[in-house]
Amino acid sequence: MIVTTADLFELAYGKYAIGAYNINNMEQALGLFQGSIDAQAPIIIQVSRGARQYAGVKMIEAIIRAAEQIYPEAVFAVHLDHGDEATCYDCIDSGFYSSVMIDASHSPFPENVATTRRVVERAHAKGLSVEAELGMLGGVEEDIKVDEKHAMLTDPDEAESFVEQSGCDSLAVAIGTSHGAYKFRGKQGLHLNRLAEIQARLPGFPLVMHGASSVPQAEVARVNAAGGKLDASASGVPEEDFAEAVKLGVTKVNIDTDGRLVWYRVHRESMQDEPGLIDFRKPGKTFVQAYADFIVHKSEVLGCAGKLAEVRAALS
Ligand code: 13P
Repeated sequence: MIVTTADLFELAYGKYAIGAYNINNMEQALGLFQGSIDAQAPIIIQVSRGARQYAGVKMIEAIIRAAEQIYPEAVFAVHLDHGDEATCYDCIDSGFYSSVMIDASHSPFPENVATTRRVVERAHAKGLSVEAELGMLGGVEEDIKVDEKHAMLTDPDEAESFVEQSGCDSLAVAIGTSHGAYKFRGKQGLHLNRLAEIQARLPGFPLVMHGASSVPQAEVARVNAAGGKLDASASGVPEEDFAEAVKLGVTKVNIDTDGRLVWYRVHRESMQDEPGLIDFRKPGKTFVQAYADFIVHKSEVLGCAGKLAEVRAALS
């Protein structure tokens, strides 16, 4: 059942966060839906511009629609991740998406407000909600690369006036995370104090944590043991921090890198263990199960595991 992102946020706020996972292909979709049923958790399916180019707009939609039929019990929203203005309009007009993200966070404040405002007007007219971003995360996301010295935490005063002026429905805030596998150096970590200050200015308003992969050391080690060359300094958001972030207004947690690690671990190990194998369906099947288990684990640490029945009852 496809639901609106706004409805999911209303049910989740202050109690749990909903995992938002990027998908690009059939195997990820199967694992994601299977995992959401195993965990009895609502999910947000994220489609990026890169995924739309890779699989094709029609194919991505068809994959999600097919998964919906295979897993009729699932409750989910479909969200455009890191959209530019043109892609937001395309998704809004398609009638398929629950919400879009307009990412104009690299523009000066007034331009970010104006661009977001335009997208909000088009989206609201069609019943979609809009996520915007203020502040700047480090790392690489699609075609945008921000090095650490240019990353910028979200200013709480600006956040308040940004939401008021732009009319956005949720806000991605920069609180120390970055996209990709290399988030923190030394003692760096999440700026939960900053998150608390933002929540104090925007009580009850849904906040979004991007760059929220945890980059488990064990997973990095397995990828490297099977021939990968990930830097051992790779690290991410400690999963223990999610519970606190939920109390501070985070309702959506974006996870992509950790899922990619599962993909690389499974496929590298398969190629190493069975170098003569040329049936890609074997590692594909292993991946679907591993990804489903991964979704169960994430749903547990985000607190949304076991919520499916009450979400379905509230939104049916
Ligand atoms: P990660 O790279 O930490 O998985 O973040 C993904 C993300 O924020 C997508 O928008």
